Amino acid sequence: MSEKVPSREEAFALLKEFNQSDALIKHALSVEAVMQYCARKRGEDEEKWGVIGLIHDLDYEKYPEEHCKKTEQILHERGWPEEYVRAVISHGWGLCSDVEPKSDLEKTLYAVDELTGLVTATALVRPSKSVLDMTAKSVKKKWKDKRFAAGVNREVIEKGTQMLGVDLGELITDTIEGMKNVAEQIGLGGDTS
Ligand SMILES: [Fe+2]
Ligand SMILES: [Fe+2]
Repeated sequence: MSEKVPSREEAFALLKEFNQSDALIKHALSVEAVMQYCARKRGEDEEKWGVIGLIHDLDYEKYPEEHCKKTEQILHERGWPEEYVRAVISHGWGLCSDVEPKSDLEKTLYAVDELTGLVTATALVRPSKSVLDMTAKSVKKKWKDKRFAAGVNREVIEKGTQMLGVDLGELITDTIEGMKNVAEQIGLGGDTS
């Protein structure tokens, strides 16, 4: 318990230290916002959930071949608490790590990581190019079209919702609501914002 809890400011500085890609920063901000939204809804620690969401793909730009493993190493070197490191690594369960999501925080991260991708792709093909006027219905339509945003692993999202015991539609709505809070920063505020 002697480990220092990283602040949002420290986490963002670390993210910027390892990432220049605009798309990756926007993805990190999206996942952070959704994690915060879900934490608030559950009466959990918003900053903790947010920070873990923000940093989850830390190594992806520089070390895509060692995804998750490098992040684990960097976070350990920076003295991040084991709870945070474990949660971050668990998002790659079955893909780049063998750490299974166990807590609600971990299960949420596992599910919404991919879901933010589908929401972003769906928003970009809408006339408004925005999440602000978007509902779960649009995303569900695109969910069924497997060629649309084919890189989004729908199985992972489904597994995540099952682990959480939530309905897919509810998680899609939560993801949209969370992303609305950072719509402008992630480039999905449309023309009116
Ligand atoms: Fe990842
Ligand atoms: Fe991610």
